[in-house]
Amino acid sequence: MSDNASKTAPETVTAAKKLFIKTYGCQMNVYDSQRMAEAMGGEGYVLTEDQAEADMVLLNTCHIREKAAEKLYSDLGRLKPLKADKPDLKIGVAGCVAQAEGEEIVRRMPIVDLVVGPQTYHRLPQMLRGEAPRILTEFPEEDKFDHLPQNRATRRAPAAFLTVQEGCDKFCAFCVVPYTRGAEVSRPVQRILGEARDLVARGVREITLLGQNVNGWHGAGEDGREWGFGRLIRALSEIDGLDRIRYTTSHPNDMADDLIEAHRDVPQLMPYLHLPVQSGSDRILKAMNRKHTAVEYLRLIERIRAARPDIMLTSDFIVGFPGETDQDHADTMRLIEEVGFGTAFSFKYSPRPGTPAYEREEIDSKVADARLQELQALLTRQQKAAQQDMIGRTLGVLFEKPGRIPGQMIGKSDYLHSVFVDTAEVQIGDLAQVRIVESATNSLRGELAA
Ligand code: 5AD
Ligand code: SF4
Repeated sequence: MSDNASKTAPETVTAAKKLFIKTYGCQMNVYDSQRMAEAMGGEGYVLTEDQAEADMVLLNTCHIREKAAEKLYSDLGRLKPLKADKPDLKIGVAGCVAQAEGEEIVRRMPIVDLVVGPQTYHRLPQMLRGEAPRILTEFPEEDKFDHLPQNRATRRAPAAFLTVQEGCDKFCAFCVVPYTRGAEVSRPVQRILGEARDLVARGVREITLLGQNVNGWHGAGEDGREWGFGRLIRALSEIDGLDRIRYTTSHPNDMADDLIEAHRDVPQLMPYLHLPVQSGSDRILKAMNRKHTAVEYLRLIERIRAARPDIMLTSDFIVGFPGETDQDHADTMRLIEEVGFGTAFSFKYSPRPGTPAYEREEIDSKVADARLQELQALLTRQQKAAQQDMIGRTLGVLFEKPGRIPGQMIGKSDYLHSVFVDTAEVQIGDLAQVRIVESATNSLRGELAA
């Protein structure tokens, strides 16, 4: 609270407290941050973009790679002077580092007031009021989203996230997610449909369904039968005004037939699929506990492309996994050549304590660096080619914000490319047909189609 606010007469409404949230990592964290902001709204907090004026700073962390966790501690170090100036400042650590490190965070950084794991966000207001422990990282039985209030009055941006599933039972040998986010839990159909309808009523036209293993979602449907993820997408596509559906992230082994068929049958389902493969070497895939081979992945891609020929594929790769040889790396390069990705994320292997791979001997770091460079160069070439292929095509673009240059609008194409259009004829939230005329490094330029 500012000095001004405390000087106002007691009967006047005091100025809202300011909440600054920094979000690290994946889209699930972006979604969680939004929900926490809404929950804290009930406690009188409004969001600020300026950390210096905040009454509370919340760091929503990521634990997936070592660097992500180290970033938290350096950011906390930088908060020390702010806390010294403002002893009432509340500092909270949320997310997967909070889950993994718990009390250790407060021990290392005594300026931290609250530590809250991803499954306990609904208790944040209580924690702040001192009605719950200040370190909460258990996995409760109830659905945290039931307890997180939504501000149903506020209009939303045209594209929104919706978490449908959390956690992961796959236990890839390198990954902390099964430990930080826990076992797979699917949210019930009714909740998901309700939240989707609510978002659409608030101006949303595109929903990205989120889950650590989103295509593993399953639940009892409205008809009492067990629904798979494809059935859920079909039900969502019946919501009037929901023009686009996307989902992320998926495991190849959960690409069920009904989901592949949804790509063929549901026009609202965008022709874009993020399907991590991690490696193209069977030896490494086995060591990673991915439970599929390179050929099985390639066959799956064939089936998906048969259902939706214009689909764009993206993936994740880990380079330098323990035991990776030149031949394994060459196998990964060949898989990339064979599939042809629209874009992809690639990471140097990072040993994470508590995972099975942590104990294994690492490969030479310089070799891993060189392989990563080579792999990224190939992926960059493929991304360029995919963008080049868009030139001359007419695509749907959902406009999300004005560009920096006056008269310019920015939206997302069906394939998730950012598209810049010079036009005064569209507004935020419009979905228009755009002819692509140019490709830049990470975006496209287009003109409104007649
Ligand atoms: N080291 C490097 N990359 C990792 N990922 C997950 N765990 C690790 C790790 N220990 C990558 C995987 C995953 C993505 C979200 O992060 O590629 O798909
Ligand atoms: Fe981690 Fe994804 Fe493997 Fe689950 S499927 S363990 S989230 S990499």
